[in-house]
Amino acid sequence: MNRRRKIYEGKAKVLYEGPEPGSLIQHFKDDATAGNGKKHEIMDGKGVLNNRISEFIFSKLNNLGVPTHFLRRLNMREQLIREVEIIPLEVVVRNIAAGSIAKRLGLEQGTRLPRSIIEFYYKDDALGDPLVAEEHVTAFGWASPQEMDDMMSLAVRVNDFLSGLFTGIGIQLVDFKIECGRQFEGDMMRIVVADEISPDTCRLWDIKTHRKLDKDVFREDLGGLVEAYREVAQRMGILTETENALSTGPRLVE
Ligand code: TMP
Repeated sequence: MNRRRKIYEGKAKVLYEGPEPGSLIQHFKDDATAGNGKKHEIMDGKGVLNNRISEFIFSKLNNLGVPTHFLRRLNMREQLIREVEIIPLEVVVRNIAAGSIAKRLGLEQGTRLPRSIIEFYYKDDALGDPLVAEEHVTAFGWASPQEMDDMMSLAVRVNDFLSGLFTGIGIQLVDFKIECGRQFEGDMMRIVVADEISPDTCRLWDIKTHRKLDKDVFREDLGGLVEAYREVAQRMGILTETENALSTGPRLVE
C-alpha cells in the first residue's frame, strides 16, 4: 500500500514527499519516452539501472565538492534527495556534434567541436523545449546573471568529471543534459545539480566501435536499450556479475 504524497510525476520519474522537511523521494520508472512524449514504451529494468547509475555519478560529484541534490539511495528504484526549486532550463554540454546541433548547424555527426559548448533550453513541453540565449533567460527572469554563471561553472565541472569517468571505461561522452535547482538553507541559497544523470540524459558512444549506449538506441529504434544501459552500469563497476545474471533469471521483488 502506498500512502506517500505524490509531489510531481514526470515522464520517467515520480517525486514523493520525503521523510523529513526539505527532503523528497525520487522514484525511477521504467518508462522510456522520446520526441516530447510522442514515443513511449515500458522498458523492464530501465528505472533500476538509471537509479544506480545516477546514484554513482551524483555520489562522486558530491565527494568532489560539486554540490548536488542527492543524499542517498533508498532502494532499487528510489533515492532520497534535497528539495530544491528547479530552474526551468535544460543545460546541455556538447563535446562532439550529434543530435540537434548537428541538424541545426549542418555539422557531421561525430565531429569534435572546437571546444565544449554549453547551451540552454527553456523547459516547456508545449513549446518543445526551445533553445534560448542568456538574454532570454535573464530578461524573462528564469535565472539571474549570477545563477547563469553558477550553472555554467557546474556544467563545466560535471563535464570534466564525466569525460574522465567515461573515457576510463572506453566510452566517449558526446553530450549530456543537466538540470539545476536552488537549494535554500536559512538565509543562504546555492545552485546545485538536480534531476538525474544517466544514459537517458547523456549521449554515450563506445570509443572503439561508436556503438550507441544511450537513449538514442530507443529514439532510433536500434533495439536493446536495457542491455545497453546494463553494459554502461557494468563497465562502471556498479552491477556485480550476480546481479547481471539475475536480470535474465528470476526477478528481485522490491
Ligand atoms: P539534443 O541533441 O537532442 O539537443 O540533446 C542534447 C543532449 O541532451 C543529449 O545528451 C540528450 C539530452 N537531452 C535530454 O536529456 N532531455 C531532453 O529533453 C533533450 C531534448 C535532450
